[in-house]
Amino acid sequence: MKKIKQTQELKRSYYRAIYPGTFDPITNGHIDLITRALSTFDEVIILIAHSSKNPIFSSSERQALVQKCFKNDPRIKVEVIKGLLADYAKKQGINVVLRGLRAISDFEYEFQMATMNKRLHPELETFFLMSSENNFFVNASLVKEVISHGGDVSSLVPLHVEKSLKEKLC
Ligand code: COA
Repeated sequence: MKKIKQTQELKRSYYRAIYPGTFDPITNGHIDLITRALSTFDEVIILIAHSSKNPIFSSSERQALVQKCFKNDPRIKVEVIKGLLADYAKKQGINVVLRGLRAISDFEYEFQMATMNKRLHPELETFFLMSSENNFFVNASLVKEVISHGGDVSSLVPLHVEKSLKEKLC
C-alpha cells in the first residue's frame, strides 16, 4: 500500500529543467537537444543569457528567434536572464540545468560551470545530453562565419533564423 502511494506521488511530480545559453542564434543542434530533453522533462525553460561574446542579435531578438521555433509547444518557455543562473534556479525552485556535450573539448568548460553552479546552489544538478551525430560539429560562430561568406546553412538552422542571419550579415 505504501509503495502504491509512493508511485502515485511520483507520478504527480512535475519535472522542470532550465537550458541556458547565448543562443546567438539558436541552431538545429540546440533544437535537437531541447526536443530530446522533452522525453524526460515536463517543461524546459530556455534561458537567454547576456553574454560577453558580443552577440549580433539583441537578447530580445534572440528570445523571439527561439520562441518562433517552439511557438505551439506549451512545454517550452523562453526567458531572458540578467543575473546568475544559480539565483534564477533557486528563486524558481528548479534543480536541473541541461547542457549539451558535443566533443571532449566541451568537457572542461562544462565541468567548471557545473561545479561553480553547484557551489552557488548545492541542489542544482547539471544533466548532460550528448549531441546527436548530425550536430556535433555545429556552433553559432561557425554558422555566422559560413553565412557571412555566402555559404549554405539551411541544414544547420531553421528557415526564419537563416533569414534573420542574412539580414544581419549579408
Ligand atoms: N548544438 C550546437 N551548438 C551548441 C550546442 C548544441 N547542442 N550547445 C552549445 N552549442 C554552441 C553554441 O552555439 C555556442 O557557440 P559559439 O561559442 O560559437 O557562440 C557554444 O556552443 C557555447 O554555447 P552556449 O551553450 O550558448 O554556452 P555559452 O558558453 O555561450 O553560455 C552560459 C554560457 C550562458 C550558460 C553561462 O555563461 C551562464 O550560465 N550565464 C548566466 C550567468 C551565470 O550564472 N554565470 C556563471 C556560470 S557558472
